Amino acid sequence: MLAKFPDGFIWGVATSSYQIEGGWNEDGKGLSIWDTFSHTKGKILDNTTGDVSCDHYHRWREDVELMKELGIMAYRFSIAWARILPDGKGKVNAKGLDFYSRLVDALLENGITPFITLYHWDLPQALQDEGGWANRDVAFYFGEYASVVAKRLGDRVKHWITHNEPWVVAWIGYGFGNHAPGIQNHKVALQVAHHLLLSHGLAVEVLRDLCGYNAEVGITLNLSPVHSASDREEDIAAAKRHDGFLNRWFLEPLFVGGYPSDMVEFYGELMPKTQPADMAIIGKRVDFLGVNYYSRSVIAHNEDSKPVKAMGVKVEGAEYTEMGWEVYPDGLYEMLVRLDGEYRVPKIYITENGAAYADEVLPDERVHDERRVNYLRQHILAAHRAITEGVNLAGYFVWSLMDNFEWAYGYTKRFGIIFVDFETQRRIIKESGHWYSQVIRNNGIIAI
Ligand code: FCB
Repeated sequence: MLAKFPDGFIWGVATSSYQIEGGWNEDGKGLSIWDTFSHTKGKILDNTTGDVSCDHYHRWREDVELMKELGIMAYRFSIAWARILPDGKGKVNAKGLDFYSRLVDALLENGITPFITLYHWDLPQALQDEGGWANRDVAFYFGEYASVVAKRLGDRVKHWITHNEPWVVAWIGYGFGNHAPGIQNHKVALQVAHHLLLSHGLAVEVLRDLCGYNAEVGITLNLSPVHSASDREEDIAAAKRHDGFLNRWFLEPLFVGGYPSDMVEFYGELMPKTQPADMAIIGKRVDFLGVNYYSRSVIAHNEDSKPVKAMGVKVEGAEYTEMGWEVYPDGLYEMLVRLDGEYRVPKIYITENGAAYADEVLPDERVHDERRVNYLRQHILAAHRAITEGVNLAGYFVWSLMDNFEWAYGYTKRFGIIFVDFETQRRIIKESGHWYSQVIRNNGIIAI
């Protein structure tokens, strides 16, 4: 036995609503910013949309069956806000709630624990029309949405994630503009980040009230250890700023009680408007932190790289995935140990980890994705190392259950442990899926 995990360790898979569901205008669903964005020419690499995607909205039974076949213990999925509240607030669409309620029942019948993410990036377009996350009111609408969902599902769902990767929402969506809603304004991005954090705190209160004493509530951050590209002082300083930009900007309000002072100073007039009680709301105790880990960041100083004069550099000789992300499993270990030591995070789930490779179905009808197996194996071993050093890591979710719509990359990047033929909707379990199934059965990794 190479790495045995603690009893009760949760092995899961993750997806998100816009990336898999399709059914974009069915059963009363309102439009989301991703519907608008993907329908705008030039925004998606292969000119596709999530209109159909994996058609999970109609094929969810089959997908639950596949999970069962693999022995998956937990399924992390997200709710499309605009299915529940087509205008983002006000009138509730019963059919939207019914869809998720049926899914939850089917999961539970098959012994799969649902982990729900309330916001995985598909804001109702109606709220974008009011300014989106740049509008403080939207944080309060999020609280109302959380309450509508919790009232319906909170009797059965005991694991809740408020937000997925607020850094990506704020910076890629509103700062750099590669994601919906496609805004490019750094000051707005910081205001959005603040409202996302505020909305998180508001939802934590709601979920705790409505889902019972045994419910766990948390938030998922995309975290990446930041290493300096050289020993030069200016690169070291840039790496520290990048860490402040990406990691500490979210960790400190959640676990320390305020924004990191070096970054507050650096941002100067970019700083968001806040209200005195906000930090107390944002810092509400969470039961766990969700960590999405894909790679580390290697950073050099660059005067022109906005907003923090830091730019990512490639490492010679290193291995990269199809996303251009370095395969660096030690970074997961490093981050987990840091969260435990520096931030005293009570409990951690790895809510996403995985890799994109250009998979093909071979004539034997199999998908031999050895590189993904290797990626997952190394990261699971790194996670295990953190556990042996005392980190309270309670579960691990592979991104993703199946190939899906990879945001601005459309269908050009495959992350699944199940292959999806988007022409026929046929699903084929990849080698990595079979391999992961064994990891679950063994509660660990037994051979090299
Ligand atoms: C994360 C997202 C997820 C997926 C992976 C590859 O940033 O949360 O939806 O796109 O990256």
